[in-house]
Amino acid sequence: HLYGRFRRNSLGINLNDPTTLDRLMAELASAMGRQRQASPLISGEAREGNGRVVRDPSDRRRVVGTVIEADHKATTEALAEATSVAPGWDATSVLGRAECLEQAANLLEERQVELMALCIREGGRSIPDSLSEVREAVDACRYYAAEARRHFAIPKRLPGPTGEYNELALHGRGVFVCISPWNFPLAIFTGQVAAALAAGNTVIAKPAEQTSLIAALVIQWLHEAGVPSRVLHLLPGEGPAVGQALVADPRVSGVAFTGSTETAHAINRILAEREGPIVPLIAETGGQNAMIVDSSALPEQVVVDVMSSAFNSAGQRCSALRVLFLQEEVADLILEMLMGAMEELRIGDPGRIETDIGPLIDEQAKARLEAHCQRMDQEARLLYRLSLPEDTPKGCFFAPRIYELESLTQLTGEVFGPILHVIRYSSQQLNEVIDSINRTGYGLTLGIHSRVDETVRYIQNRVQVGNVYVNRNMIGAVVGVQPFGGEGLSGTGPKAGGPHYLLRFATERSTSINT
Ligand code: NAD
Ligand code: ALA
Repeated sequence: HLYGRFRRNSLGINLNDPTTLDRLMAELASAMGRQRQASPLISGEAREGNGRVVRDPSDRRRVVGTVIEADHKATTEALAEATSVAPGWDATSVLGRAECLEQAANLLEERQVELMALCIREGGRSIPDSLSEVREAVDACRYYAAEARRHFAIPKRLPGPTGEYNELALHGRGVFVCISPWNFPLAIFTGQVAAALAAGNTVIAKPAEQTSLIAALVIQWLHEAGVPSRVLHLLPGEGPAVGQALVADPRVSGVAFTGSTETAHAINRILAEREGPIVPLIAETGGQNAMIVDSSALPEQVVVDVMSSAFNSAGQRCSALRVLFLQEEVADLILEMLMGAMEELRIGDPGRIETDIGPLIDEQAKARLEAHCQRMDQEARLLYRLSLPEDTPKGCFFAPRIYELESLTQLTGEVFGPILHVIRYSSQQLNEVIDSINRTGYGLTLGIHSRVDETVRYIQNRVQVGNVYVNRNMIGAVVGVQPFGGEGLSGTGPKAGGPHYLLRFATERSTSINT
């Protein structure tokens, strides 16, 4: 057990099996009707206050629950508690820490319907996406538990050239602040927290404002699984208030952040300017992800993969495809097929199994996309815009579109929604395409569709990105299988769900004994 390996990823349930699906839909219907509450949870004690109402992004009339946000007092108390128990938690056996996470994984899996219901109603995630979130969260708990056993249980014995005993051990750093986004309200939130705990840190979790209810449920179940309540605290609240106050506090020994590049820069500045220890920032941020399709690619496969990469989750994935480079010989054919496929997309309530595309998360997200489209309508060519069904005005729905651009420089940053930009290129322009992708400064995901191995290798070796996907879609990285994370403006690494992730949450201690 000491060296227990991560054996297999969570299997989830088979949505193609009619009996399983019927049962799931019945359970979901009842779970989706339940209202939830989130409040600051400090050493297991829920704080009182005025609740903010949380509404379903797919139908703003529907109330999902209430959130009490952390005030200055709650933030100060969480910091004091997490600091005082940090040495004790690091000194506990790594096996005990791993067992808590494994137990948490079992609980999340057993209670997946509750979690899926909140992913759908609070996060606007579709049913398949919600199931994937549960599976990823479960995988993260089991994977980081196994990784903790592998790296932390026994110090690494080193040579002793003059007869001394030398070892290198890993320890928790102290208090880790975990700040997460709304677009993976379950998987990323749980992954950050599980990794920080596994490495021996106490944790203050600051979830995204939009998705605090699901975070509160996960924290409650982590406590139930055995994580001591004084070791793990929850502070719901606004990023620039609660998040910033946490990051600025010199008692914080590390920050795990996933969100926009702008916020990562802001956190980096605070960490650089604050007093106290110099601490790591693990930042996983946005992308301006491209796919390059050459004339040897299989058009049918390209269309299936572009559709899921660009429009799944209403394009609200950091990994999503934003810019499709089509070699000119196949561009018209692929575009025609793509528009046909878009015609079939079903937009609507994510709580229905037939829905392909749910809502955007909120009105601000919609306003940002609308502003982008206004500019694109002037500067680019609108190739296709899907009409929205009649009942969608009740929620934050947005019509998916395709624009054709002349050049990648027409995009100024990440466009976080169901908008695909297409650029044609000739075979002589491949190097220009590669250079233009690298010049964006982002480096998260890249898709390549080509059946010429040399072309694949040529592109793969030159585009500076964290995750390359060849002849498949470019979303849905699996824990332990496709370690995920970018470079440049897209993040610091190490990759989440990969073998080096936990090490960044730890500090190394070398001991040399004169025997
Ligand atoms: P965001 O940056 O607005 O917010 C992320 C988190 O940071 C939230 O919890 C927020 O409250 C907090 N925050 C905001 N300002 C803060 C501050 N000044 N100090 C401390 N904390 C602060 O991002 P978002 O809109 O929630 O998420 C979408 C973004 O996340 C997209 O850019 C997407 O590409 C990125 N993302 C990246 C990955 C990845 O793995 N690379 C995964 C998912 C999402
Ligand atoms: N890990 C997520 C994906 O691959 C972001 O889509």
